[in-house]
Amino acid sequence: MECKWKEEAWKFIQEKTQLNNERIGVNFPHASKNKHYDLEKPQWWTAGFWPGMLWYVYLGNKDEKLKLTAEACEKEMDYLLTDTELIDHDMGFMWTLSSLANYKITGNKDARRRALLAANLLVGRFNVKGNYIRAWNAWIGKDDNSGVVIIDCMMNLALLYWASEETGDPRFKHIAESHGKMVLENFIREDGSVQHMVVFDSETGEVLEKLGGQGFAADSAWARGCAWAVYGLAISYKYTKNIEFLNAAKKTAHYFISNMKDRKCPVWDFRVPEDGERKYRYPDSSAAAIAACGLLHISELVSEYEVSLYKDAAESMLKTLYYECATKEDMEEEGLLYHATGHFPEQKNLDIPIIYGDYFFTEGIARLNNEKLVFW
Ligand code: GLY
Repeated sequence: MECKWKEEAWKFIQEKTQLNNERIGVNFPHASKNKHYDLEKPQWWTAGFWPGMLWYVYLGNKDEKLKLTAEACEKEMDYLLTDTELIDHDMGFMWTLSSLANYKITGNKDARRRALLAANLLVGRFNVKGNYIRAWNAWIGKDDNSGVVIIDCMMNLALLYWASEETGDPRFKHIAESHGKMVLENFIREDGSVQHMVVFDSETGEVLEKLGGQGFAADSAWARGCAWAVYGLAISYKYTKNIEFLNAAKKTAHYFISNMKDRKCPVWDFRVPEDGERKYRYPDSSAAAIAACGLLHISELVSEYEVSLYKDAAESMLKTLYYECATKEDMEEEGLLYHATGHFPEQKNLDIPIIYGDYFFTEGIARLNNEKLVFW
């Protein structure tokens, strides 16, 4: 009886993804408006989430049409691998969920080659002075973004850890671990909350300033950033066995869980003012979906006495997402989860379905239904 909701949720995801495969096809959906996903160019950081969802559902139902779409999306991204000005640190997100997922499932040699190429380009963004992977290129003209680092990059490290395991060359892992240690020092706060953005002097490696980025303020706690930390730190522990990463993953997890309180969805930033009106207090279901997958990851890495703490919290978040946020009553809606918030400071994509929320919901529910393969 208790498992019934998990099966129902998995069935819902499979049905809607099959419908979406007909509706969306070989494209790069991002945020759903008026029931339909708007489409981005392949270079937008979210390009991997749709193929990643297709691969998870394919693992469940072996529908060849989903595989074909995922492979075609991957090929559409190829031109990016020869243009370092079009790609940034989010190569990790993009090629882990497209090429690496493909390679792990099918053994496709071209997919392996693409994933290794992306890993090689990603290590090229490492700055040895500050021990960080640079986030973005200049947005406009000669904007200097050479010292900007964001917490989200912890997820990009998975591609590097994999590249070391795959090739036997530890360079990728060394760079990933150095970036991870820099994050422990500069992003993870004592109480388990997380800084979104740190700016370094790219010549000397000195920290210049800490910024709010996509959060409410420099000293606030952007919920999705906290979730990236939970999952990203757990990934770094999985590959390095450096206990500092696990301890930090637990600390950020405890912070996230305690800030859920009895809410259906986390607030997009755990430190927005309690203003009693809808000025600031938007929900972010995507943060809960990411954190839940991170908690599942932690539950697979801790001692037997701690497993249930993390697994139960993950299940409870995913169950609440299914009952309170899933779009199961409306098959016309392409998104899977209502109530994500993309970028509050820029007032973009507030309280709508968003593709990374859908991807992590899919990953979490697949894992609760005993899928063992994880792409990260
Ligand atoms: N910057 C990636 C995100 O919105 O989580």
